[in-house]
Amino acid sequence: MRRMSGKDDNVVVRGLRGVAVGESGISYPDPNGTLHYVGYNIDDLIDRTVYEEVAYLLIHKKLPKMQELDKFRTEIVTEMKLPDPILESIKNAPLTCLPMDVLRTEVSHLGEYDPDHKIFSEPANIRRAVRLIAQVPAIVATLYRSRREEPVPAPKKEFDLPQNFLYMLKGSFPEDSAVKVMHRLMTLHIDHGFNASTFAARVTASTNSDMYSAVTSAIGTLKGPLHGGASEKVMEMLDEIYFEDKLEEYIQGLLDDKKKIMGFGHRVYKTQDPRTKHLRGIVENFCYSFGTSYLYEKCKKIEKIVYDRKKIYPNVDFYAAVALYSLGISKEFFPLFFASSRIVGWVAHILEQYGDAVLLRPSQKYVGELGRVFVPIGQR
Ligand code: ACO
Repeated sequence: MRRMSGKDDNVVVRGLRGVAVGESGISYPDPNGTLHYVGYNIDDLIDRTVYEEVAYLLIHKKLPKMQELDKFRTEIVTEMKLPDPILESIKNAPLTCLPMDVLRTEVSHLGEYDPDHKIFSEPANIRRAVRLIAQVPAIVATLYRSRREEPVPAPKKEFDLPQNFLYMLKGSFPEDSAVKVMHRLMTLHIDHGFNASTFAARVTASTNSDMYSAVTSAIGTLKGPLHGGASEKVMEMLDEIYFEDKLEEYIQGLLDDKKKIMGFGHRVYKTQDPRTKHLRGIVENFCYSFGTSYLYEKCKKIEKIVYDRKKIYPNVDFYAAVALYSLGISKEFFPLFFASSRIVGWVAHILEQYGDAVLLRPSQKYVGELGRVFVPIGQR
């Protein structure tokens, strides 16, 4: 028996930290604390664009003219109506099943009803991308309502996507202020470089597999608590800190035990996550009207304690959790909300990966044994 050495001495970069595995022109999270969508700083887009405008930018690599935006919005809203077998399947999903599992299954299921079945041209892939941008939030809203045994309203053609999404989730016409929050929240979650779920989508797309398979891979990856599952954990933490005078003790206790504080830290940013100031601002501006200012106060205190002790900052999930809770969305649906806007980034990356036409297949460093003597089963 001998250990492998020599030929297979590849350098292992644990967690692929800092390894660029491909080129992309979609979004750029600058480690120094800015985020750019197709060249535009998000600070210039938030509040000055609507969600679909940024979605168009990511898919077509240019901002739309008014007519182009209107057409894109109409296409999206039309596609929010789900095929009947998908609606049935969502309603029949066992209640023991996590909402994220239902979303993963139904996106895969959508592939069976693809009107462009077996057509893999670029226009067909763009049509698929637009459909998925509409269908993922529609699945989420349908599931949300069925879990409450309430009917889901049909999307309204005069509403845009975030407005329809909120309308379908809540079953009543949303307030303008809530729709405004949705546009901002969805824009802030729309894309973020080669994050884990996007990378998973790109690996699947790099085998020339179809878009539904690639998005299914992405959803499975987003589900984990180190990625999109973090916002739900943030809310659990805020719920657990019932008495504010126990807050300091609670957070210091987690840090003493070397536990991670959910919603903090980031692989890319060495400074503030550029989305946090916008999310903090959303929560600060709206928490009073939503009656959640007590959560905002808790968050500010936690932010200070964690920074003073560890010099780490909140990531996108920290204040997003409070924003979503303020909109009346229950915490087990937070990762599904994330998927409902990140779907734009995923499909944009899948389209880009198809254009790149290279199989993503890394190497390994083999550290197992070689030269073992085989013994037949009867003699072991
Ligand atoms: N709480 C406490 N300490 C932390 C945290 C945290 N949330 N995040 C990082 N640290 C500390 C680590 O303990 C480590 O300290 P040490 O050097 O003293 O051991 C140091 O910061 C580096 O941490 P890593 O885990 O090595 O950083 P990595 O880049 O691998 O992880 C990650 C990034 C996964 C986001 C991490 O910060 C984390 O687990 N955060 C909590 C989960 C979370 O919020 N995930 C959402 C991320 S954003 C998104 O996916 C949308």
